[in-house]
Amino acid sequence: MHKAIVVFEVEGGSDKYFDGHRKDTMPIVNAIRNEGWKSEVVYYRPEWSEALFDYISQNFDGYISRVNPGSIPGGEKGYFELLTKLSDAGLVGMATPEEMMEYGAKDALVKLKDTSLVPSDTHAYYEVEEFHKTFPTSLSYGERVLKQNRGSTGEGIWRVRIADPELAAAVEPGTALPLDTVLKCTEAVDNHTEEFTLGEFLKFCEQYIVGDNGMLVDMRFMPRIVEGEIRILLVGPDPVFIVHKKPAAGGDNFSATLFSGAEYKYGTPEEWPELVEMFNQARPIIAENLGGDNIPLIWTADFMLDTAPDGSDTYVLGEINCSCVGFTSELDMGIQEKVAREAISRIK
Ligand SMILES: Nc1ncnc2c1ncn2[C@@H]1O[C@H](COP(=O)(O)OP(=O)(O)OP(=O)(O)O)[C@@H](O)[C@H]1O
Ligand SMILES: [Mg+2]
Repeated sequence: MHKAIVVFEVEGGSDKYFDGHRKDTMPIVNAIRNEGWKSEVVYYRPEWSEALFDYISQNFDGYISRVNPGSIPGGEKGYFELLTKLSDAGLVGMATPEEMMEYGAKDALVKLKDTSLVPSDTHAYYEVEEFHKTFPTSLSYGERVLKQNRGSTGEGIWRVRIADPELAAAVEPGTALPLDTVLKCTEAVDNHTEEFTLGEFLKFCEQYIVGDNGMLVDMRFMPRIVEGEIRILLVGPDPVFIVHKKPAAGGDNFSATLFSGAEYKYGTPEEWPELVEMFNQARPIIAENLGGDNIPLIWTADFMLDTAPDGSDTYVLGEINCSCVGFTSELDMGIQEKVAREAISRIK
């Protein structure tokens, strides 16, 4: 054993600080060093793949990936191949490409729809034809949110409803809506609303389904999103902090993404005992449905409030993220030390 962990980044991008790294990268590296282990950062480039493999496989026991899949030079395929080769050579992957795909893809929600975490009428479209066939009926049950798999910060995440409220109230649930039905569609990236006919919107959304990892998740709209989305950040199995993200008030607004104007409040798991209790009970079920015991090193789960039949609050899962989860505004909370200890214990 080398007692050494390498951290992957890519060069450039708006997430980098003046030292060329993500703001939370060197804190992790330094925390690993403080535990008496070696650690350093390398940059991925496709043309360095072989050299990286030789260097890393000879000098390190594990890797931590701090790379956003959308910004990998040459695409994620080459990067994932390198990570898989390193795992095959005996390194501990944090996270492995499999974990990133299982936990990070939007259809993780669909894999959890038979649990109490996700409404049972959540589904995913992988084929354009299937989408055209099913969505007109899906929308007859009420307002929906369509989520593309690629991209982030609310791009291609659409709140979809029938424009005329009287018509919406009169629709017979379970009947396909006619293609000339006028819709109001609000995109989470900036809460802007556009009108489409259903036929136009179906056509427009084909872009999200075609191509690599294309899919659309179709989920019930959760009206209590206006009270905020609650993010749990985890290091391995442990919740370490909470972000309460409240959409900008007014209009059709439903987006909890930062750039859409949502307000963020940071807190501790102790301030959210019911949510954390519920989550701790659900976590093994999440693991069982998303690839077994391999929990990502740093990941987040986002929840929205819902109301149970008895009037009490429940929580619905909206998204899991596990690639490149940041904690740059919480560097004083001891998270990097937890990351270092968890990473070292996985190698041991
Ligand atoms: N079912 C839903 N009901 C109501 N609002 C929703 C629903 N799903 C998502 N949203 C809203 O849309 C926003 C964006 O959706 P989501 O987080 O799934 O996409 P994203 O683009 O991957 O965002 P992120 O940058 O957080 O990864 C959420 O923050 C939330 O405010
Ligand atoms: Mg989100």
